Amino acid sequence: MGYERKDHFYKRAKREGKASRAVYKLAELQKRFKLVRRGDVAIDLGCAPGSWMQELSAMVGQNGRVIGIDLLPLKISLQPNCRFIKGNAEDESSISEIHDLCGGKADAVLSDMSPNLSGIAFADSYRSYELCVLALNLCSSLLKPGGNFVVKIFPGEEFAGFIAELKRRFEEVATVIPEATRKTSSERYVIARGFHMSGDL
Ligand SMILES: C[S@@+](CC[C@H](N)C(=O)[O-])C[C@H]1O[C@@H](n2cnc3c(N)ncnc32)[C@H](O)[C@@H]1O
Repeated sequence: MGYERKDHFYKRAKREGKASRAVYKLAELQKRFKLVRRGDVAIDLGCAPGSWMQELSAMVGQNGRVIGIDLLPLKISLQPNCRFIKGNAEDESSISEIHDLCGGKADAVLSDMSPNLSGIAFADSYRSYELCVLALNLCSSLLKPGGNFVVKIFPGEEFAGFIAELKRRFEEVATVIPEATRKTSSERYVIARGFHMSGDL
């Protein structure tokens, strides 16, 4: 069954010219939670190969902007409303580049960042948690009051504490397994809307 789901979304992405099956996860989250609107500035952390950027570019439209960062290169051609930084989101220099391109605060921060999975569950979930904390800390300096945050996590021991922290900082928090997530994956997407509190974790 896991293989069939993978095959279905993989084939669909190929057929529809999408850079990856991940696009269907974002499309579902957008439909359910209205995360991004036309004219918005959106930050896309871990954006390669680029399917979320393709989708976000269309969502924000020509008056909006999408700023993506990844360690790896994109496999899409960039739309005029998109900017890409090839770098590590953990580096100060990358963070200041995001700030420069943003030129103010963003309406939405989205992180689909994944660690290189080792297969050792506690190690993978801890590394995933570290990337989530990085993304949340970026919200403190980059996200407008009222803004939205989406973050992928491979839940482990730290998950409950992370959700509690999000509930302090956002008005609404929900956890979702999108339809396009492989059955064999433990990934979850946490949707946090209505940012109202800054501060580092
Ligand atoms: C599942 S992929 C993202 C797929 C993307 N949302 C799309 O739709 O095409 C996860 C990405 O996170 C990136 N990543 C992991 N750690 C990162 C870091 N510290 N800085 C930047 N990118 C990172 C990986 O290089 C990988 O390309």
